[in-house]
Amino acid sequence: VESLTVAELAKKLHKEPSELIKKLMFLGVMATINQELDKDTIELIANDYGVEVEEEIVIDVVDIESYVDEDKEEDLKERPPVVTIMGHVDHGKTTLLDSIRHTKVTEGEAGGITQHIGAYQVETNGKKITFLDTPGHAAFTTMRARGAQVTDITILVVAADDGVMPQTKEAISHAKAAGVPIIVAVNKIDKEAANPDRVMQELTEYELVPEAWGGETIFVNVSALTGSGIDELLEMIQLVAEVEELKANPDKLASGTVIEAELDKGRGPVATLLVQSGTLKVGDPIVVGSTFGRVRAMVNDLGRRVKQVGPSAPVEVTGLSDVPQAGDQFRAFADEKTARQIGEARMSRHREANLAQNTKVSLDDLFNQI
Ligand code: GTP
Ligand code: MG
Repeated sequence: VESLTVAELAKKLHKEPSELIKKLMFLGVMATINQELDKDTIELIANDYGVEVEEEIVIDVVDIESYVDEDKEEDLKERPPVVTIMGHVDHGKTTLLDSIRHTKVTEGEAGGITQHIGAYQVETNGKKITFLDTPGHAAFTTMRARGAQVTDITILVVAADDGVMPQTKEAISHAKAAGVPIIVAVNKIDKEAANPDRVMQELTEYELVPEAWGGETIFVNVSALTGSGIDELLEMIQLVAEVEELKANPDKLASGTVIEAELDKGRGPVATLLVQSGTLKVGDPIVVGSTFGRVRAMVNDLGRRVKQVGPSAPVEVTGLSDVPQAGDQFRAFADEKTARQIGEARMSRHREANLAQNTKVSLDDLFNQI
């Protein structure tokens, strides 16, 4: 940073220009909003807010969401596709994933209803695929929207005996809004009442026209229960992934998105992260949403401890000072000091925003926040 105006610096620090002008006055500098500040003054003010101006990027990085990775073409390597399973409640999303993974997640669910986003990785034909399972129940719109935003490919599960339903339509609009290709899995094909042609017919209304009918959408008839069609579905996923040419640079500090997070009684804040770029390692200082910490331990979807994970991998992380929010961005840093400074700056910004929102704040609340 060579020079910035008061207004520009205020924006970067998420402060009011008037606040900066006051602070400058204390320092004996009479400044106007458009005044250029030199490097030393910028540093003085930034440090006062707990933000260090070590390199050019540090202040910008307070906005980890808008930080753009600039990778050289030769540093980009193929990465697994992130595939989100969406569809109406009970159409068989979790069973389909169980069938792919040879697991029995469905049996453990309360009332057979998925209530969170599950993140898993499988390997077929020597290639990995990351799957996100979303809930189909009407109440979980935000989770479906979030799933669509981090994904490369959407699998739209439609039960062949039920057809297009409200959350089928909702899933289509999320995928379209996110600009993500859709593969239709017509499920429960084993059922007597199954009518896959009707599903195709209904979906043409949403511009999902099967290739057989001159359209471009891939349809695969499957039965999550008997396993029929699953191999073909996996092949289609890999085909679409190849066309998309999904790449990321694994040889740098990790960044990505929080899939979900909670406070665990024994382990403290636990977050499931999707690494989208770089490699996340145990010990990495990390800023996650409005919190930060150091990666204490990482556990993969099979419950095994791992030391590092690369692009497209989902991983459960402990070591954060607070519980982040699902959908938050995260970014690892080379040193703990930087992560702490940025984390604290973001934390106080978050706190201030919260305070400003609650016009009536009780003293208790205030003390809890401090
Ligand atoms: P939510 O996550 O709550 O939206 O439901 P879901 O889409 O994950 O559905 P789930 O996998 O829980 O399956 C719902 C019911 O459909 C269960 O009873 C499954 O056994 C059944 N089911 C799923 N796939 C098939 C299939 O291919 N054939 C038949 N006959 N039943 C299926
Ligand atoms: Mg489910």
